[in-house]
Amino acid sequence: MTAPRPYNLVAELTYRCPLRCVYCSNPLEYAQVREQLDGAAWSVVMEEAAALGVVHVGLTGGEPTLHPDLLEIVTAAANADLYPHLVTAGTTLDREGLEALARAGLRSVQLSIQSARADTARRVAGVDVATQKARFAADVRALDLPLTVNVVLHRDNLDEVPELVGLADQFGAKRLELANTQYHGWALRNRDALLPTRAALDAAASTVERMRAAYPQLEILFVLPDYLSDRPKPCMGGWGQRIVVVAPDGKVLPCHGAAELPGLEFWRVPERALGDCWRKAPGMNAYRGDAWMQPPCRTCPERQRDFAGCRCQAFALTGDAAATDPACSLAPAHGRIVEARDAAEADPPALVYRGGLS
Ligand code: SF4
Ligand code: FES
Repeated sequence: MTAPRPYNLVAELTYRCPLRCVYCSNPLEYAQVREQLDGAAWSVVMEEAAALGVVHVGLTGGEPTLHPDLLEIVTAAANADLYPHLVTAGTTLDREGLEALARAGLRSVQLSIQSARADTARRVAGVDVATQKARFAADVRALDLPLTVNVVLHRDNLDEVPELVGLADQFGAKRLELANTQYHGWALRNRDALLPTRAALDAAASTVERMRAAYPQLEILFVLPDYLSDRPKPCMGGWGQRIVVVAPDGKVLPCHGAAELPGLEFWRVPERALGDCWRKAPGMNAYRGDAWMQPPCRTCPERQRDFAGCRCQAFALTGDAAATDPACSLAPAHGRIVEARDAAEADPPALVYRGGLS
């Protein structure tokens, strides 16, 4: 199997985080994953990623600013001619630290916001950090770094679109990503408490259209949830196609959840070169191409577009990672999605939080 060129590196520097968000995409067993890459090891990853054809690196986690060698890592990414982009909750880095990263070559920042309302933000993140986030956004803008605000949407904040747009504009963001929750990791655990009704989603979509007209200076993305669509997204642009993920323990993956799929062998840096991990690891090749697909995907014309959806979602809902993603209305297991939609009409259960800093 020929491996395509990856364009994006997702560098998960650490799974530690001071927030405890109920939709965190980190593995449920994240605390078992040891941080094994220091600044020198990540620097080699940056060089090898550039040699593979990667142009953009998302420095993420957990909370990537908790990695003690972040400055060295950003410097290495910039020296390798990558575009380093920091994905942060904005509560752990002061102006001086951010300025040092900007001097080292950091190109842009994504700040996550849980809600425009303090009580909802606290309920989602498990801690009260709204003031710190506002201060961080001001620091980003003072340093003239392009700012994206990212909000994970769910039934508790879907009605906040106008306030969220106003907040992103006030923060000086160039781009606002309103991404409906994808149900992986902790979000799947909390799905019945987070999944909105179709009516709430449709209302939010109309509001987004109005807001785009009212705020032309702000690019507003609205990412629909798989659970309320009829066709799946091409998760990560396809398994092992465009995005290479390196986990805190050095495991090289096609997505943030793949290490939890049973029976797949992935390789690690620095034990092996990043290029070998990407091209040759059995797990990376398990779902490349379409020979592995089951009916109806195997003969469906959409398979070149959506790659049969998400392997992690297929496994989580059917126990078979090669199954058609149940988000597809043609999937034999689509009933699981329909049941979840019906459950969203009922009263939500209590939220389950991931641990905090650990
Ligand atoms: Fe995509 Fe498979 Fe559904 Fe076709 S049947 S749209 S390939 S998930
Ligand atoms: Fe793993 Fe979609 S999150 S394939």
